[in-house]
Amino acid sequence: MKQNKKENKHYKILNELQNYRDKDFTFSSGQILGSMCTQPHTIAIDAYIKFLETNLGDPELFPGTKEMESKLLSFFLNLFNAPKSATGLIGSGGTESNITAIWLSKNLTKKKEVIIPESAHFSFEKIKSIMDIKLITIPLNKNYCMDISKIRKKISKDTATIVGIAGSTELGTIDPIPELSEICIDENIFLHIDAAFGGFVIPFLKELDYDLPDFDFSLKGVSSISVDAHKMGFSAIPLGALAIKENKWLSEISVETPYISSKKQAGILATRSGGPVAATYAVAKYLGKKGYENLVKRCMNVTEYTEGKINEIGLNLVVKPTMNVLGVKLKNPSKVAKKLTDYGWKVNKMDRLSSIRIVLMPHVTKEIIDNFIPDLEKACREVREL
Ligand SMILES: Cc1ncc(COP(=O)(O)O)c(C=O)c1O
Repeated sequence: MKQNKKENKHYKILNELQNYRDKDFTFSSGQILGSMCTQPHTIAIDAYIKFLETNLGDPELFPGTKEMESKLLSFFLNLFNAPKSATGLIGSGGTESNITAIWLSKNLTKKKEVIIPESAHFSFEKIKSIMDIKLITIPLNKNYCMDISKIRKKISKDTATIVGIAGSTELGTIDPIPELSEICIDENIFLHIDAAFGGFVIPFLKELDYDLPDFDFSLKGVSSISVDAHKMGFSAIPLGALAIKENKWLSEISVETPYISSKKQAGILATRSGGPVAATYAVAKYLGKKGYENLVKRCMNVTEYTEGKINEIGLNLVVKPTMNVLGVKLKNPSKVAKKLTDYGWKVNKMDRLSSIRIVLMPHVTKEIIDNFIPDLEKACREVREL
């Protein structure tokens, strides 16, 4: 009898949760066209659940999980051609990795100015508010990348860091990172590369013979790189990694940990789940580099298909896509995005660029695009864009 009561309560709560979940959009429906996340690979789900109770903030209790995390870190360091001296931290995503990188560079250089491109993610505004730093913004060139000619005169004796974006949030563009690397070597400046999105795309596009600039540790001036597995890594939220060129730099962002097993701890978080780490490790092991390459190839295929369909209905892109992110030029992006929501599609409006953003993630197929394009055309006609 008691058991029955417990079971009833259990199912009643799960039913209530299902009602909340039913109100959400889902990746599997194909309606989400503006997110940089996707439906995780099935192996990510199984792996995540297996490691639900693990805590990487107390590694002595979970040495197996810690060992797996070290292997995942090696995967990222290898992907980014890191030197032997390199290390890294696993965290919750791009925001945390950017915070950690700027925290590290500030402590290392004892300087407070951070040069970012106009296209930088809004996490840098949070960083400015959290830390006592000054942001210096560099305008973009006609290709929507950081205008390299404007950087040198913005460097001062207080410049700690330059940030380059490898796969911008709005358009997927890549800043001129080889040139940034040269400047940072000359001027002895910390160079952080925000590859939250592009870190899981660019290495594979290069394998597919796309002509893209280097962005990783093969450039001597690069000091740190952030990458998110919950974006193009096909894994579960939340997982971001920060690859750091020199292991010895970790002491700059480490504190003593008096009452847990390890003596010191680096990074922002203490308690953190091994679940997303297991999920990402499992996907990396399952797909391997070749699997990611195939995934990126598929996404680029759908991107090129979508570009063609958009042009066919008389609309233009903001810029030729570098990766699987498209900006569609519109006079009134808010009105079009709203109409599209009425038709069940979720895209992002980008008022700054007078456009809407479409991200061709692994859950977006050509069939979905075939259903979307007539609604896009209809929405544009209704608000007199076409
Ligand atoms: C380039 C870039 N950096 C950082 C972030 C922030 O990542 P997160 O939302 O995982 O904190 C994003 C998110 O879209 C991004 O595109």
